[in-house]
Amino acid sequence: MDKKIILTGDRPTGRLHIGHYIGSLRNRVELQNSNKFNEIFVMIADAQALTDNAKNPKKVQENVLEVALDYLAVGLNPEKTTIFIQSQVPQLAELSQYYANLVSISRLERNPTVKTEIKQKNFGESVPSGFVFYPISQAADITAFKATTIPVGEDQAPMIELTREIARSFNQTYGSNVLVEPEMFLAEEGISRRLPGIDGINSKMSKSLNNGIYLADSYEEMKAKVMKMYTDPDHIRVEDPGKIEGNVVFAYLDVFAKDKQKVEEMKAHYQKGGLGDVAVKMYLVEVLDEILKPIREKREELAKNPEEVYKMLAIGSEKARAKAQETLEEVKDAMQINYFKDL
Ligand code: TRP
Repeated sequence: MDKKIILTGDRPTGRLHIGHYIGSLRNRVELQNSNKFNEIFVMIADAQALTDNAKNPKKVQENVLEVALDYLAVGLNPEKTTIFIQSQVPQLAELSQYYANLVSISRLERNPTVKTEIKQKNFGESVPSGFVFYPISQAADITAFKATTIPVGEDQAPMIELTREIARSFNQTYGSNVLVEPEMFLAEEGISRRLPGIDGINSKMSKSLNNGIYLADSYEEMKAKVMKMYTDPDHIRVEDPGKIEGNVVFAYLDVFAKDKQKVEEMKAHYQKGGLGDVAVKMYLVEVLDEILKPIREKREELAKNPEEVYKMLAIGSEKARAKAQETLEEVKDAMQINYFKDL
């Protein structure tokens, strides 16, 4: 039977928050522990992060460690999952260069996720070419490991589609079957999308808005953020009837509370009047802390020894290099540019 291989990753532009946890991290840990996969690679995509942070390498560099701590704290296990840093696998850059010859500029410019990002990032007239190019580099990330299964959010669909096109085109052009066409794996569709920032139901958690709850937040920080959450601005006195729609606290309870019945009862009470915001918020603090406490404690422990974390990343990157090198050799063979192979 063919091998089942996972590859996924994150850009290290900030610490990971509970939206990441519920939308992807929790699922990765489940996949890891299912033992259904032959190999699992999780990549810290620093090179991709640099495509729009070229002038701020320190931010990227610092967040490599933060993201690695988040990974370990939620339960990714380096014995089972190879965690590595993208820039430490130069084979990926080399593959990208060859793949770029198979992709037209207009194809890159049509990528809807990249288009949205370009608008959000206010590049103006100066969109870095590396940024428009990053989906090609992402195809290299995926194909270098012959990954079959890519657990990502919906916004990554265009990248997976392009990767499939590149793999197909490469195999056809060079008469090979070196590259594997991956499948996207949508874990819990929409959940992270449904999880808004603390400031309102229409916002998404984002580092720049400081409206997210981070895995690294202390209990006090988390509690303060819950207490600041947007509720129903017309719910002024406890006796007043309150609205659930647009109420961030209930949106979070819907996602995180295990006791769904209790949440439904609270909603009814809130709508009728007589249930205060603070009471609902205190319940959310309790619910969140049940999830976050073990993660926070493990993270604090690991953060005392950053050197150990870097060692783990070095070992993972070494493994990743070996695997990517194998694929690169096959790619160069297929392209007939492996000149010294038989010397
Ligand atoms: N683009 C992904 C993100 O923004 C990160 C990423 C880079 C990735 N390379 C990847 C995800 C390969 C999956 C597979 O989060």
